[in-house]
Amino acid sequence: MATKSIRVLFFIFLSSFQLEFSDAQTWIKAGYWLAGREFPLSDINSALFTHLICAFAEVDSSTYQLSISSANQQYFSIFANSVRRKNPSIKTLLSIWNGQNSTYQSILGNKNINPSVLSSMVGDSSHRKSFIESSVRTARLYGFQGIDLFWLWPNSTDSNNLGILLDEWKASASDQPELTLSMAVRYSPTHETVSYPIDSMKKNLNWAHLVAYDYHMPSKENVTGIHAALYNPSSNISTDFGIREWLRRGFPANKLVLGLPFHGYAWTLVNPNDNNVGVRASGPGITIDGSMGYKFIRAYIQNYGYGAAPVYNASYVVNLFTSGATWINFDGVETIKAKISYAKEKNLLGYKAFQLSNDDNWALSRAAQIEENNDNDKQRLLLLILLPIALVLILIASLICYFRRTAIKSKGRRNLRTPGTSTQAAEYFDSDAPNLQVFSFSDIKAATNNFSSANKLGEGGFGPVYKGKLPRGQEFAVKRLSATSTQGLEEFKNEVSLTARLQHVNLLRVLGYCTERDENMLIYEYLPNKSLDLYLFDPIRRYVLDWQKRVNIIEGVTQGLLYLQEYSNFRVIHRDLKASNILLDNELNPKISDFGMAKLFRKDVDEANTGRIAFEQWKDSKGKEFIDPSLDDSSSPCKLLNCMQVALLCVQENPEDRPSMLEVSSMLKDDSMAIAAPKRPAFSAKGDENAETSSTSRQEIYSFNDPELSQLEPR
Ligand SMILES: *[C@@H]1O[C@H](CO)[C@@H](O)[C@H](O)[C@H]1NC(C)=O
Ligand SMILES: *[C@@H]1O[C@H](CO)[C@@H](O)[C@H](O)[C@H]1NC(C)=O
Ligand SMILES: *[C@@H]1O[C@H](CO)[C@@H](O)[C@H](O)[C@H]1NC(C)=O
Ligand SMILES: *[C@@H]1O[C@H](CO)[C@@H](O)[C@H](O)[C@H]1NC(C)=O
Ligand SMILES: *[C@@H]1O[C@H](CO)[C@@H](O)[C@H](O)[C@H]1NC(C)=O
Repeated sequence: MATKSIRVLFFIFLSSFQLEFSDAQTWIKAGYWLAGREFPLSDINSALFTHLICAFAEVDSSTYQLSISSANQQYFSIFANSVRRKNPSIKTLLSIWNGQNSTYQSILGNKNINPSVLSSMVGDSSHRKSFIESSVRTARLYGFQGIDLFWLWPNSTDSNNLGILLDEWKASASDQPELTLSMAVRYSPTHETVSYPIDSMKKNLNWAHLVAYDYHMPSKENVTGIHAALYNPSSNISTDFGIREWLRRGFPANKLVLGLPFHGYAWTLVNPNDNNVGVRASGPGITIDGSMGYKFIRAYIQNYGYGAAPVYNASYVVNLFTSGATWINFDGVETIKAKISYAKEKNLLGYKAFQLSNDDNWALSRAAQIEENNDNDKQRLLLLILLPIALVLILIASLICYFRRTAIKSKGRRNLRTPGTSTQAAEYFDSDAPNLQVFSFSDIKAATNNFSSANKLGEGGFGPVYKGKLPRGQEFAVKRLSATSTQGLEEFKNEVSLTARLQHVNLLRVLGYCTERDENMLIYEYLPNKSLDLYLFDPIRRYVLDWQKRVNIIEGVTQGLLYLQEYSNFRVIHRDLKASNILLDNELNPKISDFGMAKLFRKDVDEANTGRIAFEQWKDSKGKEFIDPSLDDSSSPCKLLNCMQVALLCVQENPEDRPSMLEVSSMLKDDSMAIAAPKRPAFSAKGDENAETSSTSRQEIYSFNDPELSQLEPR
């Protein structure tokens, strides 16, 4: 009798203890990793998360099976095992996004997602079956513990079908080992035309995570707005409003995960003194669409903030930074902490970070832990008190049981089978490079008038460049690569798509490519003002570029290089920078071209020896004689001789002596800064090789908002 009651007590105690324990574990700390364009998998600090999500697989538009691009296959296959090394209890999910194909992006950057693939998939039972079977099989094959569907714009028809899909998917995912199912959804279930099958989601999903950002984007609006405001005193476009709507519609708080953006947006203000929310803006700042990763924002503020700091605004819950006409809103450490407190207060299930590579040395990911630690401390305290009591009770219980010769059957832990972790790819999914338009040879031939000499814009280092015009009037430039690539077709596509992801106002945009008929052609945006050399070395046109315009060009090129070398996903060393590679837009703003080519082609680059002449004159204090006498720097804070001195520093013989782009940038910005005396310049590019290998091996990773993100239309 006594044994029995002690045993009952014992199990009651144990189960409440377990309950405590599992409660502590349900707080989700998830993060997205975008395959292929990120820092190495091994750099992910998995210990800061409970769930890591590998993105993105797609839905094939003809078979409706899950499809992982051949370039991403390698990452998906090792993701689960890789991130488990630093955190053995981490759970991994495979994420599927909108099922767009590579041509969804129109040529001049009008990005239109193609949700119809998902629509048709959910709308037909045999399509759903293909999708469900292949997604569940692939997730298990690669050792993922769950699947995530990223679908932000289902309409009312889709919504009904999605409900059916979730029922069927859940049934299929429930076989052992059970897969977690999650979905990324709009911040509000009622915004515009979106419609979600709330009952089915409630029943089938482990959680839904809110894409609680990208509400206002500078590429789409001309009045400033905060892209991830928790509260908004003057409109319903806020995370708090969205969450209240989800709850009001009956979606449970304990299945809602709050999305935290690790990126912000830079706007260009019409009036720099008018730097508030809701003021006139003329478009994005700093990058093409204004998006900037947190890491990039921090570096930008440090280098260009002139000591100004971002401010935290608790009315919206956002960090704001203004410098001249640039206005940036983003989630800094204070914002993340406030949002975590909010999520706790609302009893949400946790948070997910989008996306990890934008974090700055894990500062935001750590900030997200802080509030939670308070809870952990309480739990730890509870454990400290309960554990000795439990041990004593267990001891007494087992002693009594021992004397009564009654064995207590210990409740064995559920034996969790580990899913298959074969890295061998069972299926080969092919897909084109995302974000890029694939052109057919015949289209390009027609658009360039059969590569006519009248359409020829020039002959670059890698082959002739032609102007093309599509039937709808859109103009582009196509480079017909004559050099043979050192890499195969797949690598070519891969490399081109990486290059296309480098987006900055001072970089020429890559729009697509053509690889038909053994051709390697790259399609770029067309700039009517052609290249810088046509101005610099022309006796008449050189006067178009007065000193102020040249300073603007120098600054633009510096920004472009800084981005390529420091802030982009992949550190890129140009290796062939010259006036003919600097193109000018309508307003004579510079755009660097041919970046990323060094990786595709081997090319012996001869450095011009103007560096030497300038240096001789510099040494003899005759620097001014080297300079175009028409240039007048008297009214500019940026002085000619300073620029020349910085330029000479950059071509010094020993690469170790040369300043970094960050240093160059600050020397040009700050005229009070002492500039070192340059040493002898290099006469050949030989020394560069070493510098490049050492720096590329570092693969510095800053990523601003991924281009794919901008497809996720706001609101
Ligand atoms: C991709 O989508 C576009 C627009 O919906 C369509 O015209 C094209 O045929 C699709 N291409 C493939 C390969 O599915
Ligand atoms: C929902 O979207 C799909 C795909 O875009 C379309 O075929 C369907 O007609 C839409 N339904 C409604 C009710 O708008
Ligand atoms: C802002 O955009 C709206 C609609 O796109 C347009 O009507 C308005 O003129 C624009 N305002 C400014 C200041 O550009
Ligand atoms: C915000 O939403 C509430 C509740 O749905 C509605 O009553 C109100 O009119 C909305 N306000 C605005 C500015 O749209
Ligand atoms: C936040 O910004 C708004 C708009 O600029 C301003 O009205 C408000 O006072 C600010 N709130 C705080 C707490 O700084």
